[in-house]
Amino acid sequence: MQDTRELTKKIAELKKERNAVILAHNYERGEVQDIADFVGDSLELSQKAVELDADVIVFCGVNFMAESAAVLSPEKTVLLPELDARCPMADMVRVEPLRSLKQQHPDAALVCYVNTTAEIKAECDICCTSANAIEVVKSLEQKKVIFVPDKNLADYVARNTDKQIILWEGYCPTHNQILPIDVRRVKNLHPMAEVLAHPECRHEVLEMADRICSTTGMVNYVRKSGSSEFIIATESGLLHRLNKENPHKKFYEVSPYTMCPDMKMIDLKAVVDSLEHMRYVITVPEDIRLRAKKSLDRMLAIKRKR
Ligand code: 13P
Ligand code: SF4
Repeated sequence: MQDTRELTKKIAELKKERNAVILAHNYERGEVQDIADFVGDSLELSQKAVELDADVIVFCGVNFMAESAAVLSPEKTVLLPELDARCPMADMVRVEPLRSLKQQHPDAALVCYVNTTAEIKAECDICCTSANAIEVVKSLEQKKVIFVPDKNLADYVARNTDKQIILWEGYCPTHNQILPIDVRRVKNLHPMAEVLAHPECRHEVLEMADRICSTTGMVNYVRKSGSSEFIIATESGLLHRLNKENPHKKFYEVSPYTMCPDMKMIDLKAVVDSLEHMRYVITVPEDIRLRAKKSLDRMLAIKRKR
């Protein structure tokens, strides 16, 4: 078994050899975040995929994220170190039932959360992430909006816009199982702590939050906040970055069950193997890629507000 130092050295050598950059989502294992060139939320990672000057992107995240990079930057080789790292919520929506819903509401715009496959993005008018969902929906001309696949994010958007939202019954298993009782339990132990919640959480949990934002939204908020304690209602991987960047502040997990197994599949050995054997290359058929790119490009044209 190689140690972290050895693996890190090997990754640096291979990166140079391949002219590669490593992108990691805020939920990835701490050791993977530490060797990445850039760590961020879904929106930032999509933006980076476009801006980067590299031949190879090693995407440490889940399948839909690597797919988005492949859609946006077809000239680069996009590698996902673990092929099984998929988002269960993204797999809760399929093309045929989505097309029939669309047919039932021909006057509605179709918005897809970035946590969808490229095939689903290709069906949509515009994408959004948790950082810009409200802005994206507000930017639409249509009064009626079909929003897939996260019912909790759709509900959050519906409450913060004047649109009629038709939601899909999808959800993130990690966020959806966070309950008000979890928040109350930690809040009783740390009454001065501010509660930060991700909009993939249920409405009852969001109602208890001092701040609702994406993962990087939380990082930015904590940096500026005068508070010194925070209860974090999102996937546990974010705690690594929060602790690292704010050594004098305290962070509490909302419950011990906020780990997304898919976000923890990639380790340093998998990154080495990925660069060494150039695996697993993520590609998207050209007809789907071009249509999915339209949805992503429309989203990226809307400037980030938070
Ligand atoms: P962010 O939008 O904060 O990246 O979170 C989305 C998510 O759950 C990624 O799986
Ligand atoms: Fe999907 Fe939730 Fe895991 Fe993110 S945390 S990859 S939304 S299951």
